[in-house]
Amino acid sequence: MPPSAPLALGLLLGLWLQCCWSQTPPPSSTRAPPPSSTRAPGTAPPPSSTRAPAQRLKVRLAGYPRKHNEGRVELFHQGEWGTVCDDDFSISNAHVLCRQLGFVEATGWTHSAKYGKGLGRIWLDNVQCGGGEKSIALCKSRGWGNSDCTHDEDAGVVCKDERIPGFVDSNVIDAHVSENKVEEVRLRPVAATKRKLPVTEGVVEVKHRDGWAQVCDLGWSIKNTRVVCGMLGFPHERRVNKNFYRLYLERQKNFFYVHSVACSGTEVHLAACPLEFSRPNSTGACPGGAPAAVSCVPGPLFTPGGLKKKLKTSSGVRLKGGARLGEGRVEVLRGGEWGTVCDDRWNLQAASVVCRELGFGSAKEALTGARMGQGMGPIYLSEVRCLGTERSIWNCPFRNVSSEDCQHLEDAAVRCNVPYMGLENTIRITGGRTRYEGRLEVLSTDPNGTQTWGLICGETWTTMEAMVACRQLGLGYANQGLKETWYWDSSNVTDMVLSGVRCSGTEMSLSQCQHHPTVSCQKAAAKFAAGVICSETASDLVLNASLVQQTVYIEDRPLHMLYCAAEEDCLSKSAAKANWPYGHRRLLRFSSQIHNIGRADFKPKAGRHSWVWHACHGHYHSMDIFTHYDLLNANGTKVAEGHKASFCLEDTDCHEGVSKRYECANFGDQGITVGCWDLYRHDIDCQWIDITDVKPGNYIMQIVINPNQEVAESDFTNNAMKCNCKYDGHRVWFHNCHIGDAFSEEAERRFEKYPGQLNNRISS
Ligand SMILES: *[C@@H]1O[C@H](CO)[C@@H](O)[C@H](O)[C@H]1NC(C)=O
Ligand SMILES: *[C@@H]1O[C@H](CO)[C@@H](O)[C@H](O)[C@H]1NC(C)=O
Ligand SMILES: *[C@@H]1O[C@H](CO)[C@@H](O)[C@H](O)[C@H]1NC(C)=O
Ligand SMILES: *[C@@H]1O[C@H](CO)[C@@H](O)[C@H](O)[C@H]1NC(C)=O
Ligand SMILES: *[C@@H]1O[C@H](CO)[C@@H](O)[C@H](O)[C@H]1NC(C)=O
Ligand SMILES: *[C@@H]1O[C@H](CO)[C@@H](O)[C@H](O)[C@H]1NC(C)=O
Repeated sequence: MPPSAPLALGLLLGLWLQCCWSQTPPPSSTRAPPPSSTRAPGTAPPPSSTRAPAQRLKVRLAGYPRKHNEGRVELFHQGEWGTVCDDDFSISNAHVLCRQLGFVEATGWTHSAKYGKGLGRIWLDNVQCGGGEKSIALCKSRGWGNSDCTHDEDAGVVCKDERIPGFVDSNVIDAHVSENKVEEVRLRPVAATKRKLPVTEGVVEVKHRDGWAQVCDLGWSIKNTRVVCGMLGFPHERRVNKNFYRLYLERQKNFFYVHSVACSGTEVHLAACPLEFSRPNSTGACPGGAPAAVSCVPGPLFTPGGLKKKLKTSSGVRLKGGARLGEGRVEVLRGGEWGTVCDDRWNLQAASVVCRELGFGSAKEALTGARMGQGMGPIYLSEVRCLGTERSIWNCPFRNVSSEDCQHLEDAAVRCNVPYMGLENTIRITGGRTRYEGRLEVLSTDPNGTQTWGLICGETWTTMEAMVACRQLGLGYANQGLKETWYWDSSNVTDMVLSGVRCSGTEMSLSQCQHHPTVSCQKAAAKFAAGVICSETASDLVLNASLVQQTVYIEDRPLHMLYCAAEEDCLSKSAAKANWPYGHRRLLRFSSQIHNIGRADFKPKAGRHSWVWHACHGHYHSMDIFTHYDLLNANGTKVAEGHKASFCLEDTDCHEGVSKRYECANFGDQGITVGCWDLYRHDIDCQWIDITDVKPGNYIMQIVINPNQEVAESDFTNNAMKCNCKYDGHRVWFHNCHIGDAFSEEAERRFEKYPGQLNNRISS
């Protein structure tokens, strides 16, 4: 919903919205203090050398088996790669090493050559870092090459799979690395008028080790602007009115740091462009020049009213499964069906083309190995080779893939640079036990401009609303949306200011969701305030559509074999009027294979104590309603009574290398592990739709998993599976079975028409 629609809805909330859309504190006061104030007065300028003074220590991860963010530590010293001994090794050492490798921190370390024995020298032994060192070379140790270890004691590290922002792969930057480094970029708007987010135009400022400084505009080109805009989350750039800035900047005191920037326009970070450094404080560093200023064009998501435009011109690429805005598995559209991209040769240039096509900036990361979960449909592209200037990923050369070449384990993903919107500043969570949970509070502004925090009524609060809140808070996926929060600390609770919140799940912030015009909450006490539990990972269940299509058939089953099914409510109502045990029911049978393609195990919400024993089938049901099986006619009316199946969840089988964890039998733990699936074969009891009363014709058969969204998933749009179903009174056929979000809108419309069209043909 566009921000303007709910704006009509009343005073207080209108004001709250206004606050969140236009009056958020300007960046210069929240996260971007002016350059003159960030540098400590009196500190000496850094050496003016413009090129690498000392060679930086090279570090790499090696060994087998391992993922990209873990491995045996190897150091390059005196022209030779060598290892580190595990004696005295600690997590502090691992933190230092992981940061040197570009990861934010370590999550663990390994000893005794867990990733295999290295070769050559053992460069360091008894290493004892404090944890804050810039390089392992600065930590206490026995000295280079002094060790009494063997390679059986080689140390390894496991790094948190999150890159340091702006960290450029050492292979790229090693050649001209120096103490001088551009770490971050921001724009300082010059107009002192009301500032809106995102900031799209202003003077470029770069962050270096001592603070923020400006860039000399001599030789500045629109290609440099493109790189800066990309880093700030904008897909396009435009020229600025230089005269306006010149007038303004002449009156300012300017501090230059970087000059002679010569980007080619396809870089994803200014640090990757050729450029030179001056003394941070020298005013004579830009003779005749001025600070560079740029203007960027935001994508539709970040333009007022742009969302509608975006929906109309849906592009041939999308992101799925990401926790945050601008990240996800890359999916592309071909022939009306969505498919994934293989990660062979996947890089920042190709990722940036995708990001810009979607209205974000350049790519922060090009992720390989299905790090945003696996797709289920076709894999279309492999070895995508973009220059970075293409308008669409489809304009880049690529190779077609067959299933042997590439599997969904290799699905490519991206993290795009997105504009700073300050959305996380307008809501907060309080009272929870960890920083990932709490009662939700929103910031509202009264007519006098006073800002106060207030609670949200829990009555309409579900996983959908929690998904939006967690995303807005930057805390990942919603694990749970809570309607009551009485068990959390309530010593400092605020008043309830918002009720009737309803989100579709795709909004960027709660202010885009619907809500009551004035607060109306039946239970207005703080213990009934809405709460969230957020999580960095979530499960994602998807049905194997082709298996359903392949296994469908009809069985006329004698009633005397259906007592158990009747007891479990697996037959339609008319069965009650049958002449038991004589006669039969006509059953539409098929197999369901439910995969967990997410990044966390799927576990029933209810604890074991509340699982229900089903004596007839001899197992416990952990979820009341796990799937809906329905047969619909052309106008979407159910023709076969919706059969709500509850299952006993377990890992039937898993992908190679993943071990089963959940087993239904003997009151075992229930769930579906990531990379595993739960199979309900067509011949097990209740795995059917009772079509005894259905007339011959064409229908749509629909299965929805986790229909009430009782358990959190990263993506609910792929929970439905649909097929065209043709029933001639004797036999049945399924066609076009597909996951709910697998088709383009146009292809989906064609699919929905199927029953009507055929009905007409039959009757004429
Ligand atoms: C930069 O120059 C200003 C004014 O000339 C001075 O106050 C400040 O200390 C200098 N900063 C550095 C880092 O040299
Ligand atoms: C890939 O396959 C599509 C459809 O089968 C075909 O149109 C296209 O030409 C192929 N592209 C390449 C590069 O082989
Ligand atoms: C706004 O300020 C006026 C005057 O100071 C005061 O009378 C009024 O109560 C204030 N309104 C609110 C909603 O605080
Ligand atoms: C409640 O607020 C007061 C004052 O702001 C603060 O000192 C106190 O620590 C808070 N209590 C809790 C449990 O957060
Ligand atoms: C889906 O089922 C088909 C068999 O009908 C099988 O070939 C395919 O491997 C299954 N897909 C997955 C992802 O397991
Ligand atoms: C839908 O179709 C059924 C039979 O095909 C009909 O009885 C019913 O009235 C229709 N409902 C609507 C809303 O069109």
